[in-house]
Amino acid sequence: MPDSSSAPLILGVTGASGLIYAVRALRFLLAADYAIELVASKAVYMVWQAEQDRRMPAEPVQQEHFWRSQAGVEAAGKLTCHPWSDVGANIASGSYRTLGMLVLPCSMSTVAKLATGLSSDLLERAADVQLKEGRKLVLVPRETPFSLIHLRNLTTLAEAGARIVPAIPAWYHHPQTIEDLVDFVVARALDQFAIDCVPIQRWQGH
Ligand SMILES: Cc1cc2nc3c(=O)[nH]c(=O)nc-3n(C[C@H](O)[C@H](O)[C@H](O)COP(=O)(O)O)c2cc1C
Repeated sequence: MPDSSSAPLILGVTGASGLIYAVRALRFLLAADYAIELVASKAVYMVWQAEQDRRMPAEPVQQEHFWRSQAGVEAAGKLTCHPWSDVGANIASGSYRTLGMLVLPCSMSTVAKLATGLSSDLLERAADVQLKEGRKLVLVPRETPFSLIHLRNLTTLAEAGARIVPAIPAWYHHPQTIEDLVDFVVARALDQFAIDCVPIQRWQGH
């Protein structure tokens, strides 16, 4: 559980497939009372439509209600949604203290832009800031197969200090549902921040 003085965690959501990852992460983080600064890229609107047949509102307060209702957490935690184009937002500056940033799911387009330092929207700028400040940047890439370009860009980011946590679940915890598979990936990504709020079955040895 965070203490009341805890800095927020930035959750970047890109237009890779698998919005359920972001929704489940938000569910557990808010329920555990974390403060979340959320920025969804422009492509996310299309993915919501394609994957869930839902229209994500652009207006920040409406978007907060939308994410909360998708996550099933109406009151707990603190959620602030930022427009993708708002490069003047608090999280665009290194002087704004954060616990770091989780990009979940992370598209290959965002991977490429981060690998070249191209801060063309708020999500990319916020991620770039985490790297330059030496804070945690955790990327959960979702693509298959990876091209050599994807792998090179991911390597560049790993060399720059980002943690790469691919959306690859384990099977030793006997998953029964899609949520079991998703939650395992979410838990392993949050492990990188030493945040333990997702109830998964961890390997305890034989
Ligand atoms: C339904 C849908 C699913 C997509 N899935 C992926 C994916 O899994 N991985 C990926 O890298 N791009 C995927 N894309 C393409 C990205 O959305 C596209 O490259 C976009 O420009 C990414 O922009 P962003 O990185 O700013 O979010 C998908 C697009 C759509 C519409």
